[in-house]
Amino acid sequence: MDSNRLRIGVIGCGRISVMHFSATQSLKDKATLICCCDIKKDRADAFAKKYDVKAYYDYKQMLDEEQLDAVHVLLPHYLHVPVALYAFEKGVAVLSEKPMSVDYESAKKTVDLAKEKGVLYGVILQCRYNNSAQLVKKAYQNGKLGKIISARSTLTWARPDSYYLESDWKGTWDKEGGGVVIDQAIHSIDLVNWIVDSPVKSVSCSMANRGHDIVKVEDSAEGLIVYENGVKYGFYCMNNYGCDEPIEIKLYCENAKVVFDYDDAYIYYNDGTKEEAHQSSNVETVEGGKDYWGFQHVRQIEQFYNACLKKEPLDISGEEALKTHKLVCDIYKCGKPTMNNK
Ligand SMILES: NC(=O)c1ccc[n+]([C@@H]2O[C@H](COP(=O)([O-])OP(=O)(O)OC[C@H]3O[C@@H](n4cnc5c(N)ncnc54)[C@H](O)[C@@H]3O)[C@@H](O)[C@H]2O)c1
Repeated sequence: MDSNRLRIGVIGCGRISVMHFSATQSLKDKATLICCCDIKKDRADAFAKKYDVKAYYDYKQMLDEEQLDAVHVLLPHYLHVPVALYAFEKGVAVLSEKPMSVDYESAKKTVDLAKEKGVLYGVILQCRYNNSAQLVKKAYQNGKLGKIISARSTLTWARPDSYYLESDWKGTWDKEGGGVVIDQAIHSIDLVNWIVDSPVKSVSCSMANRGHDIVKVEDSAEGLIVYENGVKYGFYCMNNYGCDEPIEIKLYCENAKVVFDYDDAYIYYNDGTKEEAHQSSNVETVEGGKDYWGFQHVRQIEQFYNACLKKEPLDISGEEALKTHKLVCDIYKCGKPTMNNK
């Protein structure tokens, strides 16, 4: 690395990659995109041409040949761990898309290797950077909300058969690790888990595949998570709806009620006062990006780059992300045995 700029590679040039490629361009003062990789040659070639960088079709070759400081790992879920482990062995930092893995043990092993090698491991959970999430987290941390008594989240989104038919890995237990919980609801579960910030005492839940004949994974789940600090969190998620309705999260607290409406948040204090936060009006929309991915990838990527440049500590490290990953894995441990045999 020249002392000011990171040498970056992107591994996986699929749907989400536009958010990462565009961030590398708006953060040129911190990082230089050097190369990209995809086993689908046309995808790697298209981005390599667009950004005038080298295309690779084998991530090991890319990591062996290039002197990189960090890679973005934007792959099917089951590949996040092996690619991160290979990068860590080379001393290269990793920013992995969520989820960390398809199980808990391999995610933990990845966190441990990053620590052993002294390299940074970041995990994308970009919703934490929404203005709404920041407002509520701070209001809780500084005591304004008082105790959180209970929380609930609802996600009703549309992932029709065509969504699964277009993918060679989504909808499979081995490659995706599950369905609506690990892929879509993970963000709302993460927000609640991050805000509550207490060890989990118990998880009870049920899962079903109610509307997707072509895949085996769950498309519906509901449950109750009880935290050691007493918070009871009920969640419901399904991806059989006709459109992507805004995710709803509510917190019932000692001093206030909190309502998240997608990227907005409203805090209604018991004394009649109110606080609110909305999505910034100057967010940059990314060509090919989806509204439901939100607009905060660039904020988290910038934070990761700052940490790699040793300007600040890493916010969402593997260790930090493991808290939500463990919860998601515990939800499957409890919910998978309740699945119907569709
Ligand atoms: N944070 C978010 O809001 C958000 C949103 C969408 C997707 N994601 C995550 O991003 C990741 C990728 O999802 P996607 O929707 O872009 O998937 P995708 O299938 O569109 O893209 C994955 C890409 O990886 C490539 N690939 C597969 N095996 C490879 C290998 N061995 N080496 C190199 N390339 C390989 C595929 O050819 C494909 O182009 C997933 O973890 C997903 O959960 C996150």
